[in-house]
Amino acid sequence: MEIKTARFISSYTELSKLPSDQKVELAFIGRSNVGKSSLINMLCNEKKLAKTSSQPGKTQTINHFLINDFWYLVDLPGYGYAKVSKDKREKWGSMIRNYLVKRETLYSVFVLVDSRLEPQKIDLEFINWLGEKEIPFSIVFTKCDKLGKNALAQNLKKYQKKLSEVWVELPPMFQTSSETQQGKEDLLSYFAEILQLES
Ligand code: GTP
Ligand code: MG
Repeated sequence: MEIKTARFISSYTELSKLPSDQKVELAFIGRSNVGKSSLINMLCNEKKLAKTSSQPGKTQTINHFLINDFWYLVDLPGYGYAKVSKDKREKWGSMIRNYLVKRETLYSVFVLVDSRLEPQKIDLEFINWLGEKEIPFSIVFTKCDKLGKNALAQNLKKYQKKLSEVWVELPPMFQTSSETQQGKEDLLSYFAEILQLES
């Protein structure tokens, strides 16, 4: 699939206000600073569509981008951002969980994981939660440009091993870099598959 048009629609802080036009949604989620907004920009060939920042916690709303006038790419707030008050974090957590469980137009979730790190408890817990709720998801390893080939392969193996301890079937996994555009074709053709489009 080629992304021909990408348009920011709005930021939402309440589920009741989300678009009601029944367009299919694919959502990106992951720890704060993992590179969600950068990946959206890379996929859409735009530099400033989604706001990026070296400060964690930039995305604090549910952001809808309309792609090819046909489906929404959704940028969700990063989890695990310590500087947000506990109250606020819990409120956000429950809103995002509600969105993930209840949003009927949400077809698939992409969990972004920093390829440089050992499997992190917070990511594994979230991934296991998605599995328990039977929410379709994939894992997208980000910032792959920052690692050598061998180190990257080793880290991915560790991840697979960790997930195999809990799950028999592993989700699709993608290696990406917003710097080098690694993984762009793979992800876009997977989107087309999910959306049942000719890629
Ligand atoms: P929040 O909105 O705060 O949750 O963060 P985010 O997940 O949207 O991350 P964002 O895209 O803002 O990126 C965070 C930082 O990582 C920025 O400084 C980016 O330039 C950097 N970054 C993101 N993706 C990559 C990548 O693929 N390679 C490299 N080298 N840096 C990246
Ligand atoms: Mg962001």
